[in-house]
Amino acid sequence: MTELLHPYDITQEADIMQPLDFNRRSRLKHVDRTFKSEIINIIRLTEMEKLFQVRILDDTARERFSFRPGQFVMVEVPGYGEIPISISSSPSHKGFIELCIRKAGLVTTILHKARRGAPIGIRGPFGTHFPIEKMRGCNILLIAGGLGLAPLRAPIFHVIENRSNFKDVHILYGTRQPSMLLFNYQYEEWDRIADIDLKVTVEHGDESWTGQVGMITDLLDEVDIAPKETYAIICGPPVMFKFVCNRLTKEGIQMNRMFVSLERRMHCGMGKCCRCNIGSTYTCLSGPVFDYWTVLNLKEAI
Ligand SMILES: Cc1cc2nc3c(=O)[nH]c(=O)nc-3n(C[C@H](O)[C@H](O)[C@H](O)COP(=O)(O)OP(=O)(O)OC[C@H]3O[C@@H](n4cnc5c(N)ncnc54)[C@H](O)[C@@H]3O)c2cc1C
Ligand code: FES
Repeated sequence: MTELLHPYDITQEADIMQPLDFNRRSRLKHVDRTFKSEIINIIRLTEMEKLFQVRILDDTARERFSFRPGQFVMVEVPGYGEIPISISSSPSHKGFIELCIRKAGLVTTILHKARRGAPIGIRGPFGTHFPIEKMRGCNILLIAGGLGLAPLRAPIFHVIENRSNFKDVHILYGTRQPSMLLFNYQYEEWDRIADIDLKVTVEHGDESWTGQVGMITDLLDEVDIAPKETYAIICGPPVMFKFVCNRLTKEGIQMNRMFVSLERRMHCGMGKCCRCNIGSTYTCLSGPVFDYWTVLNLKEAI
């Protein structure tokens, strides 16, 4: 007889072994609606990041679930906690969503131990989105640093699927080292097949790396920017988008044509718990996507 595998590989984690329990909605103060879901596939991207394909179990809810590029969901691992994660797949794709998750702490570590078929809960989608409809007929710069490629992937898919709606599209991506590059199996598709100019750089190369070495702002030297007809979407650590947005401002792009995703610690995702606010602005409701002008006017946002 084959031994039944526990949906999470928690055999080494005696201190956090708790029963998986979905019947605790009544005990949670902040639940809107949690969709019971399952992890249907797991793809290791790097040592720290995995891509999870997640399917909502209820057929009608799954069919109805839709989101815009830049939005996030709250992912609940029953018994462990709930965390905000950007949706990384194409908004037009039905059936399952993809979440690229870096191992950071308690919940993400237990998710990294999940096996196919593991149950999770999904609430959402939440938050503002990249106003990609506004960018029709213009050039687009899609710029990501490190894990920032996870939220950027949904707008990349949107642009690819609607390629004729946009003029020149550039993806600029940078990480610290080659082993940290995410989704490198898709670069050829983006670059060659979708007619998108892709430039990748790493801060520190290794013997296997034949590509560019340098900072993400160096990649902007190689792009001809027509500021009046260009929009930019920038995802990454705040320090990165500060440098990138300053540089784009010097190129003449208006601040309200640059959009960034601002991540704060979140708990409820819907304006009730006051965990995510910057002054009187709740990033879960008014964000995570803001234009750069708004970000500069939010005190201590970056
Ligand atoms: C809107 C939004 C979208 C996000 N999208 C993604 C995504 O697509 N992929 C992904 O891997 N992560 C994403 N994050 C970050 C993710 O939510 C955190 O890494 C996660 O909550 C950590 O939970 P944990 O229990 O594993 O870690 P904890 O045990 O709670 O904390 C471990 C470490 O992670 C840090 N941390 C906790 N929350 C955050 C946060 N919100 N931002 C940055 N650092 C944090 C803590 O300071 C601590 O150092 C997103 C966050 C937000 C707000
Ligand atoms: S996460 Fe609760 S108010 Fe924003």
